[in-house]
Amino acid sequence: MEDQRAEQKLQINKEDIKYIIKNIDSSKYNIIDVGSGYGESTIEFASFDNKKIVIACEKYIDGIKNIIENAKIESLNNVFIFQGNVHQLLDEYCIKNSISEIWILFPDPWPKKRHFKRRLINVVFFNKIKKFLKKEAIIHIASDSKSYISEILKCISDVKNDFLWINQNKQEWDYSNLSLPKTKYYKKALENGLNPFYIKLMKL
Ligand SMILES: C[S@@+](CC[C@H](N)C(=O)[O-])C[C@H]1O[C@@H](n2cnc3c(N)ncnc32)[C@H](O)[C@@H]1O
Repeated sequence: MEDQRAEQKLQINKEDIKYIIKNIDSSKYNIIDVGSGYGESTIEFASFDNKKIVIACEKYIDGIKNIIENAKIESLNNVFIFQGNVHQLLDEYCIKNSISEIWILFPDPWPKKRHFKRRLINVVFFNKIKKFLKKEAIIHIASDSKSYISEILKCISDVKNDFLWINQNKQEWDYSNLSLPKTKYYKKALENGLNPFYIKLMKL
């Protein structure tokens, strides 16, 4: 089911072509919203500061369409979209030292142990993003999956020479207590009685 949806490519109107990412200007403050879903976070970041470029990266067409619609409603000129896998976005569009921030809010948790290897965030992922990130770039991660969070924390210790874990105090982990985007999957977590965990890192 997921793969069929992933293959559905965006049919875009001529007037909306401007939203499709073409290249990344490393002199700008570039934010990538990985797995942006319906784009609540993308729109929030872009509205907050119109000098920052926000690139929504999402595999599924429904989310991408929603982001374009909301960018139009809010008259945002700093939102761009990439429909596809973040690895492709990095490999084909990003250059060394070009990204200022990466957000990964509620990545697919793949809760079954035999599927853990499908999880996006692992040491390989950290080692890949490090070359595209600018010095002192910020990485924001949130999840309601305890097993995913412990796996990520273990990775952080493995990559500690390249990334610094900034929010190590307990009160800074609680997503709900912080001013962070109330995305669809954040709300789902609360409905399910879960307490999402937030991690903030800096690239050294
Ligand atoms: C659980 S949803 C979270 C969506 C949104 N961030 C939120 O908080 O509501 C995870 C999203 O990540 C997308 N996704 C998963 N792997 C991806 C990848 N490798 N590249 C880009 N998007 C991906 C999925 O299509 C899905 O929409």
